[in-house]
Amino acid sequence: MRLKRGFALDGRAMEGNGSAVTVRAVAATTNGAAVMPANPPAPSRRLHVVTWGCQMNAYDSTRMADVLAPLGFGPARSAEDADMVILNTCHIREHATEKLFSELGRLRRLKDARRAAGGRMILAVAGCVAQAEGAEILRRAPYVDIVLGPQTYHRLPAMIAEADRAGRAVIATDFPPESKFDHLPEAAQPAGVAAFLAIQEGCDKFCSFCVVPYTRGVEASRPAAAVLAEARALVAGGAREITLLGQNVNAWHGEAPGGGEWRLARLLYALAEIPGLTRLRYTTSHPRDMDDDLIAAHGALPALMPFLHLPVQSGADRILAAMNRRHTAADYRRIIERLRGIRPDIALSSDFIVGYPGETAAEFAATLALVREIGFAQAYSFKYSPRPGTPAASAADQVAEPEKEARLAALQDLLAAQQQAFNAGQVGRRLSVLITGRGRHPGQIAGRSPYLQAVHLTAPERLIGQEIDVTIAAAGPRSLAGVSPSTHEEHAAA
Ligand code: SAH
Ligand code: SF4
Ligand code: F3S
Repeated sequence: MRLKRGFALDGRAMEGNGSAVTVRAVAATTNGAAVMPANPPAPSRRLHVVTWGCQMNAYDSTRMADVLAPLGFGPARSAEDADMVILNTCHIREHATEKLFSELGRLRRLKDARRAAGGRMILAVAGCVAQAEGAEILRRAPYVDIVLGPQTYHRLPAMIAEADRAGRAVIATDFPPESKFDHLPEAAQPAGVAAFLAIQEGCDKFCSFCVVPYTRGVEASRPAAAVLAEARALVAGGAREITLLGQNVNAWHGEAPGGGEWRLARLLYALAEIPGLTRLRYTTSHPRDMDDDLIAAHGALPALMPFLHLPVQSGADRILAAMNRRHTAADYRRIIERLRGIRPDIALSSDFIVGYPGETAAEFAATLALVREIGFAQAYSFKYSPRPGTPAASAADQVAEPEKEARLAALQDLLAAQQQAFNAGQVGRRLSVLITGRGRHPGQIAGRSPYLQAVHLTAPERLIGQEIDVTIAAAGPRSLAGVSPSTHEEHAAA
């Protein structure tokens, strides 16, 4: 049987050191040729974007680079040689926010040195910290030139002009009536073999721990026609796989091409008809929006990947209610049961919060029990972090830090063991792998399995951009090693 295949970068917060995405690398297309936009201006200025947070932020970073390309901005190698630096920030946990101010301190020295040498560096803070704490950023770091929230990055060129003209900081953290999506230029550079496409933004769920509804605003869905057009452009630029993005992506309900409204399942069917688009994914979802049609699509749509990231947060109903999740642990189990009923090999991922205010040892044990029962291919887990302005932050019964740490360690041990077991289960299997680039070592190429595992193997670079069958020889905690590639084309010929 030919497997349904899939790949997506993870949809979780990348809090590490931020990913210096600069701008999109010029990626090889399926036939190995690099696609450039028509008549790109020769870069005259250099842009460096540092991204923290979720995949939506990563997507926004590439789109900000697209907005700035017509102004002559091309990629910088690092902040040191950039004419403009954008810090695209995340507010989800305290830890994530702190990184901004330490990075700003470093950039201030670079900016001062540049000015002393007679040059100029524009410093912008974008993303969810900018939205939530714009004024505070300018108070603590008055050397910042531009502060812009996630809904305003289409205004960047005007903001740069304004900062130049007025010689003072410019701030835009309103929720403008116009949609940024209607004001974005075409992608300045191809998005690569595995592309991301934002279809929905914002959230109306107001989980009591979460800042996203405040930083990203109310839930808004792009019209289906706009999504389909962007998908076709991505495929023309070499994409074989598209991951649909949204803070609550399965709440998407967009205007249908012929009038009326579609929900996500219908959109997935329409996307699957685009020739050359063989892999579809969507992230991140809420259990409440897993409607019958969407569950059914996992069984009916070969392009839809057998991997789903579906955050549950806790296995205890009292905690789920306090979190305002508006689903129970049993609801979650039922969704998983139905998905596995129609797609037995579906691999599952989730998000967990430990130490939510008032969480007892027994309630934490219920989370461990849910994890043991379901079995996750991978997952993300966090200590509860009080966020200013959210209801849970002011709860009196905060869990002590050492207890949170102990619970997180116990949960992560269990999740790591499940991930290792899941990976080990692939050894000896032949998986279809979408090759996305070079591997870490010379001679290696790398891609993703249908189940979101990183796969690396020694094989020629000409395979980059292709889906190839790979026999899995070994499994590590986070990746698989493959052997014996052969392209589908060669298979077909055999
Ligand atoms: N809309 C998505 C993304 C939310 S942010 C969703 O509902 O899944 C990603 C994850 O960060 C959440 O799922 C949650 O597990 C975690 N998170 C959010 N706020 C948090 C907080 N205050 N403390 C700890 N973890 C948090
Ligand atoms: Fe935050 Fe909840 Fe919305 Fe997810 S569903 S973004 S956790 S409020
Ligand atoms: Fe962070 Fe904002 Fe995403 S808070 S997780 S960057 S929506």
